[in-house]
Amino acid sequence: MSTAHFDTVVLGAGAAGMMCAIHAAAHGGRVLVVDHAKAPGEKIRISGGGRCNFTNIGTSARNFLSNNPHFAKSALGRYTQHDFVALVEKHGISYHEKTLGQLFCDDSAKQIITMLTGEMAQAGCELRLATTLEGVEPIDGGFAIRLGGDRAADIRCRHFVVACGGKSIPKMGATGLGYQIAAQFGLAVTETRPALVPLTFSEDVLAGFREIAGVAADARVSCGKTSFDEALLFTHRGLSGPAILQISSYWRESQPIRIAFLPEHDIFGSLRASRKENGRRSIANTLGEILPKRLAAYLADAHGWAGPIGDANDKKLAAMASTIQGWQIMPIGSEGYRTAEVTLGGVDTAGLNSRTMESKAIDGLYFIGEVVDVTGWLGGYNFQWAWSSGWAAGTAI
Ligand code: FDA
Repeated sequence: MSTAHFDTVVLGAGAAGMMCAIHAAAHGGRVLVVDHAKAPGEKIRISGGGRCNFTNIGTSARNFLSNNPHFAKSALGRYTQHDFVALVEKHGISYHEKTLGQLFCDDSAKQIITMLTGEMAQAGCELRLATTLEGVEPIDGGFAIRLGGDRAADIRCRHFVVACGGKSIPKMGATGLGYQIAAQFGLAVTETRPALVPLTFSEDVLAGFREIAGVAADARVSCGKTSFDEALLFTHRGLSGPAILQISSYWRESQPIRIAFLPEHDIFGSLRASRKENGRRSIANTLGEILPKRLAAYLADAHGWAGPIGDANDKKLAAMASTIQGWQIMPIGSEGYRTAEVTLGGVDTAGLNSRTMESKAIDGLYFIGEVVDVTGWLGGYNFQWAWSSGWAAGTAI
């Protein structure tokens, strides 16, 4: 087998890998992008319900979790959400803000993939799909790489970029290989766990949820000192919806979460006004005026709030209000990597240069995107990290 030479080999044709390749090739460097999948950007394709929430207009380092909360600042500050939006606009992709600064394609996530593969082709990058990494070894001035699959080959390169993502959604090709490569080269990896993931509950708690599966309500969901005000969704398996996915990144086993429905609403005041207006209405129906009806009926039933609202004194109304806005509940776990949007933790940032994403110990070895211990909130932040870290490595090469 003959040996081919490249300046840069990028492992993973996902969001971060493609962004890096475009910039690594921009000044004439010979770049090869390798992926074991049959198509590039598979997670981009399915993201945001097929419309890709490609960034968040309000992105800053405070929207990320990491052992070192300062690490992401440099890359995020030098390749910003506005830079990515400019790229999207250059390609004529129309987009809209859905909520909370989240930008989505008007038509299809595939437009983002076409944009990136088009930029890669223009920059002269080579893309090899259905190709596996059989091994990588350090050599003088770079790396020796063995590729398997459809186009087995021996490769030499100066720069090796690990952009193969985390462990979430193994069905889509997530392998966790990036952590093994980090370990092979002596880089530390922080604890990894599923994040942005639905939470699960014991059978007795779940029995109550099942009857209201499908109900969504605005809520403030808190764990420790962290809170998110977004929608919460009851499912047959537990709790989901943006507020729960967000808090899942902060939740740890044997910690309760707190749920306040309608967190900004004066529930006590509403109930008193309703009592005055129509005291004969049942408590469940009265609650159904401010909460989804099925949720109101469930809460009334679960807490024994029977009879007309007119029979409830102020003390009882105040107790109801504080129950509705102070529900404490103990998850027993999460749905795991099967449905997690991202992997929390990863390659320890202490071993990486925050400007370039290069290993401090091994010249020419880079880690970008989800494989790194930088994890964004729900809402386009994870893709922004992929773009920013990919750009930082690509321009440094
Ligand atoms: P990514 O996972 O995108 O790419 C890694 C690539 O490496 C893949 O192409 C994979 O095939 C390849 N690979 C893996 N192992 C390999 C191996 N052993 N050999 C060769 N290749 C290998 N984020 C966001 O900001 N907005 C959103 O709308 C969404 N939506 C969303 C929906 C769903 C269902 C999921 C699962 C995730 C999201 N995300 C998201 C998160 C987002 O998809 C994620 O943060 C980025 O894709 C991470 O980009 P990377 O390039 O780091 O990894």
